[in-house]
Amino acid sequence: MAPGSSEQGGKTLLVVHHTSSPATRELLESVLAGARDPEISGVTVRSVPALHATAVDVLDADGYVFGTSANFGYMSGALKHFFDTVYYPCLDAVAGRPYGLWVHGNNDTAGAVTSVRKIVTGMELAQAAEIVEITGPLDASVRERCYELGATVAVTVSGGL
Ligand SMILES: Cc1cc2nc3c(=O)[nH]c(=O)nc-3n(C[C@H](O)[C@H](O)[C@H](O)COP(=O)(O)O)c2cc1C
Repeated sequence: MAPGSSEQGGKTLLVVHHTSSPATRELLESVLAGARDPEISGVTVRSVPALHATAVDVLDADGYVFGTSANFGYMSGALKHFFDTVYYPCLDAVAGRPYGLWVHGNNDTAGAVTSVRKIVTGMELAQAAEIVEITGPLDASVRERCYELGATVAVTVSGGL
């Protein structure tokens, strides 16, 4: 089984993330817990850091969740590097596949969200869940939103929505 995978079935949900701190790690864990909810069947969840995810990872997946910090009013350099790497090799092949997004920042995530949306629009991915924007300290509601994000995209990938 590939690193970061939980084997459950025939479809694959790829979680590509830049996780740089304990808080962002908590968000990733909540997204993964939702994606791996035992009530969702037939989906293998793969979690790959943005600096390691490849075009093959993207082509082999049926849907995506992207996670990033806001950095200088943009997505993280790591997630940008990921998109720079996979955009042209994956163009056309991934059109219509579902995606979700979470962004964590100190006070302003708007530019980061816009930057990701421009690229996934170019790739013709289909937004499958409300974008989760998080600023300030984490609390139970933030963790719940991340859980729901992971679960919603996983259910979509499974064909259940
Ligand atoms: C170089 C740098 C640039 C940043 N730029 C932004 C920004 O534009 N907007 C924002 O809301 N947060 C910004 N942040 C805060 C990060 O998003 C935040 O530190 C990250 O999500 C991790 O959260 P934590 O430090 O609470 O663990 C920046 C942080 C760094 C180190």
